[in-house]
Amino acid sequence: MEAGALFLLLSALLGTALAQSFYGNSISFMPPQKKNNGTFRVTFYQRQNGRSSCQNQSSFTCEGGVCTSFDKSNVLQTDQDDAGRWCQSEGQTTATVSTNKTSFSLRGAGCCWASNVNGKTNWTTHAELDLGTRSDSHALNSCPVTTTVSSLRVPQNCFSRIRLLAHDPDGDNVRCRFSSDAPVPSNFTLDNTTCTLTSTGQISVGVQVFEVMLEDFSATNITLTYADGTSASRQASDTNLPPLCKVKLQFSVEVLPPIQRCEVGHVQPMFLSKTPSHGDVLHATVGQTFQLYAEAQAHHASIYDFQVSGPQNMSKVFRDANSGIAEVTVSWTPQQSDLYRFVPVCFTAETNESQSEMRCVVVMVTQASIIQGKATVECSPNKMKVALDKASMPGIDENFLKLSDPSCSLTSNNTHITGSMSFSTCGTKVEDKGDFIVFKNEINSFELPNEIITRRKTVKIGFSCKFPKAISISSFYNLHKSDYIFTESSFGSFGYAFEIYRDGNFTDKVDASAYPVEVKLLQKIFMGIEAKSELPNVKLFVESCKATPDDNPENTLSYDIIKNGCLEDETVQVHPSNQTSFNFEVQAFKFTGNYDQVYLTCSVILCKPDSPFSRCAQGCLKNPSRRRRRGLGGETVSHEITQGPLQFVGPPVPKAADDDNVVMKKSDKRPSVSPPPVSPDTKSSEGGWNIKQILNSNISTAVFACVFLVSVVFMAVIVCYFSKKRKEEDRNALIDSDLEN
Ligand SMILES: *[C@@H]1O[C@H](CO)[C@@H](O)[C@H](O)[C@H]1NC(C)=O
Ligand SMILES: *[C@@H]1O[C@H](CO)[C@@H](O)[C@H](O)[C@H]1NC(C)=O
Ligand SMILES: *[C@@H]1O[C@H](CO)[C@@H](O)[C@H](O)[C@H]1NC(C)=O
Ligand SMILES: *[C@@H]1O[C@H](CO)[C@@H](O)[C@H](O)[C@H]1NC(C)=O
Ligand SMILES: *[C@@H]1O[C@H](CO)[C@@H](O)[C@H](O)[C@H]1NC(C)=O
Ligand SMILES: *[C@@H]1O[C@H](CO)[C@@H](O)[C@H](O)[C@H]1NC(C)=O
Ligand SMILES: *[C@@H]1O[C@H](CO)[C@@H](O)[C@H](O)[C@H]1NC(C)=O
Ligand SMILES: *[C@@H]1O[C@H](CO)[C@@H](O)[C@H](O)[C@H]1NC(C)=O
Ligand SMILES: *[C@@H]1O[C@H](CO)[C@@H](O)[C@H](O)[C@H]1NC(C)=O
Ligand SMILES: *[C@@H]1O[C@H](CO)[C@@H](O)[C@H](O)[C@H]1NC(C)=O
Ligand SMILES: *[C@@H]1O[C@H](CO)[C@@H](O)[C@H](O)[C@H]1NC(C)=O
Ligand SMILES: *[C@@H]1O[C@H](CO)[C@@H](O)[C@H](O)[C@H]1NC(C)=O
Repeated sequence: MEAGALFLLLSALLGTALAQSFYGNSISFMPPQKKNNGTFRVTFYQRQNGRSSCQNQSSFTCEGGVCTSFDKSNVLQTDQDDAGRWCQSEGQTTATVSTNKTSFSLRGAGCCWASNVNGKTNWTTHAELDLGTRSDSHALNSCPVTTTVSSLRVPQNCFSRIRLLAHDPDGDNVRCRFSSDAPVPSNFTLDNTTCTLTSTGQISVGVQVFEVMLEDFSATNITLTYADGTSASRQASDTNLPPLCKVKLQFSVEVLPPIQRCEVGHVQPMFLSKTPSHGDVLHATVGQTFQLYAEAQAHHASIYDFQVSGPQNMSKVFRDANSGIAEVTVSWTPQQSDLYRFVPVCFTAETNESQSEMRCVVVMVTQASIIQGKATVECSPNKMKVALDKASMPGIDENFLKLSDPSCSLTSNNTHITGSMSFSTCGTKVEDKGDFIVFKNEINSFELPNEIITRRKTVKIGFSCKFPKAISISSFYNLHKSDYIFTESSFGSFGYAFEIYRDGNFTDKVDASAYPVEVKLLQKIFMGIEAKSELPNVKLFVESCKATPDDNPENTLSYDIIKNGCLEDETVQVHPSNQTSFNFEVQAFKFTGNYDQVYLTCSVILCKPDSPFSRCAQGCLKNPSRRRRRGLGGETVSHEITQGPLQFVGPPVPKAADDDNVVMKKSDKRPSVSPPPVSPDTKSSEGGWNIKQILNSNISTAVFACVFLVSVVFMAVIVCYFSKKRKEEDRNALIDSDLEN
């Protein structure tokens, strides 16, 4: 901080106190417009971040003297920290551009990055857009939309990734790269397609500054026509030509000293399910108040605020609820001038020690005259069904509606139009949203093939089913996702259920309301994996099952129960079942040390039963080094499914329990060899960890009589998400913003 203070002093002395401590900035363009007299109207919004006084934004300049007007409106502060640690402002600029060139560019510069480990002071920014009219949208190209919150903070040991927003309104592919005119902070890497910042080694504590270029490339073959009558064609995803638009995103990340525990929900706030997913496209209409709701929880820290990067005049209401839960409601009423704007909104939940992940969404502003129809989506493990209420959308002719794949038909009765599809048919797209797997389809109105432009009322109804991809929850929430859905072409869509049963009959699942269930150490846990497939004849194979003390299956502290198809743990017993089920029992155990929970992750494969070389046919492979080729088409890739946590309550203090029936019964099966490693600190030969703390011999030794609590709640399987149907007069608003590609 001393260096920062010195720097401030210096810059004040030099009289360059403009944006004293710059944390970064972003610009987002409105879709540019071409006027009848040949000029272009380019409007953009600049968000600038800093420590305090963000009102004084640095200015952009128009390159090449092509701007006949360049009007910057009032800059308003949009969010700030009460303690003066960060702020953000937004300003709007409208330029009239008169040029015969095929592109237009802007530049900006400033002197004063916040004091950082990269030693950067000056910054420059740049944006360049192509002025050709696209053959696909019949409009000028739109630039990728992005922003960040003002102050990103992460404890050194907890940094895993920062997902940057990179949404293109035209549906173009957006590529991200570190700007070539700025040094790249060491040990950081940026995935050029997902725009995710990750680390490749240890990152240094202190402020790190980033300059990232976002560039869009058409996802389909298009032709661009320019004012001077020339044209150029672009091939799908050709990244050798200059991008259609490039914008720079600058941000800083404060790497904080390490903290004790990184699991989300502990000290780092975790977003709860009402919060939109990263990358969601939300809709707002002119003149109507739009609201975004986010909820986060931290059990061992207090969330005192949410940072929000949003438009001017948005309002933020923060509420602190019980059990470490805090919520924020962001409200904003778009004006006529916001029509067709794609507004980036990012947010984080703040604690003194840390910060949640950053999530960003795009708010698409459409006309007020949209008819809000009613529809419902039903999601089941391998299919979805949408039903539109005809009464809510008068004037819509069902004969002009189709699903993404027009060969799938919609059906209707007197009141509803319904469509039913599996996750692998009818053009349903699978999207990995990081935390969710989303299956999307949409209902569109037909257009006559020869009609180039239509002014007819148009229907576009996007709908989807979301499934949490993995359990990223701590025991505090008692959440459990029992079903997993995957798709693969030769297997259609299939899913797995991973359940705990009450007894060895494997019929009585532990019911949600019965949780938490108490079991004693040494008690058997009965678990079952069941495959649910569209195909009638498939075989389930459980290749591995391992236990970890948290929900990260990659945790180096792990214990193998089944490995390479072989039973590793001596207490595991497989119970006979049919070919789509795998039932097994294992004795309760816990990890030695300060771990009070256990997660189980199994890797499962589906095979065609008649395939002699499939993984299923091979069973236990004792020699894991012998690599095996995957029988093409005969089996799926392996999928990981997780169950947990199993929570141990009560102090893990040894206590005599010589009257314990379970122990008596269990003892007769055990080899009567040397005394068991009962001390929590005993090291075993394997990897230096005494992972299993289980009593596997002599009854007379002290017994851990701690209570084994299986705190697993069976959640409703499905999260349905229905994005409002829109009916619009203008093609412009029909840009398919729901599907990123
Ligand atoms: C072109 O028209 C726009 C408004 O449509 C106007 O602002 C601009 O001044 C005009 N430019 C020229 C060169 O006539
Ligand atoms: C903003 O900048 C102007 C001129 O550069 C300066 O006079 C003014 O004091 C600054 N305002 C703040 C709040 O820093
Ligand atoms: C654009 O080109 C036309 C014809 O070549 C010319 O008349 C006009 O002055 C040019 N405009 C600009 C801004 O250079
Ligand atoms: C920063 O910018 C100022 C003026 O814009 C320039 O005089 C100075 O040399 C620059 N410093 C560095 C380190 O590039
Ligand atoms: C993106 O990264 C991949 C792998 O690092 C590389 O092969 C590819 O060329 C990059 N694409 C672009 C557009 O830079
Ligand atoms: C980058 O990571 C490596 C490995 O973790 C580490 O040795 C190195 O010091 C790191 N570099 C910096 C500049 O921190
Ligand atoms: C795009 O154009 C290239 C070359 O003209 C062609 O090979 C390719 O099939 C086209 N792609 C599509 C999707 O039309
Ligand atoms: C924001 O609110 C102020 C004062 O209420 C108003 O003057 C201004 O026009 C508003 N700006 C926008 C972009 O709505
Ligand atoms: C967080 O930090 C602020 C200022 O440093 C302090 O006033 C506040 O009490 C702290 N809150 C907690 C919960 O520690
Ligand atoms: C029409 O279909 C909807 C959706 O499937 C259903 O809820 C409704 O009961 C059906 N109505 C009649 C009259 O069959
Ligand atoms: C299985 O169910 C039967 C009848 O419901 C019961 O008698 C038997 O004890 C059960 N077996 C186990 C292992 O719980
Ligand atoms: C296989 O067994 C499970 C119970 O273990 C049962 O739910 C499922 O219906 C059975 N499947 C078939 C095809 O019999």
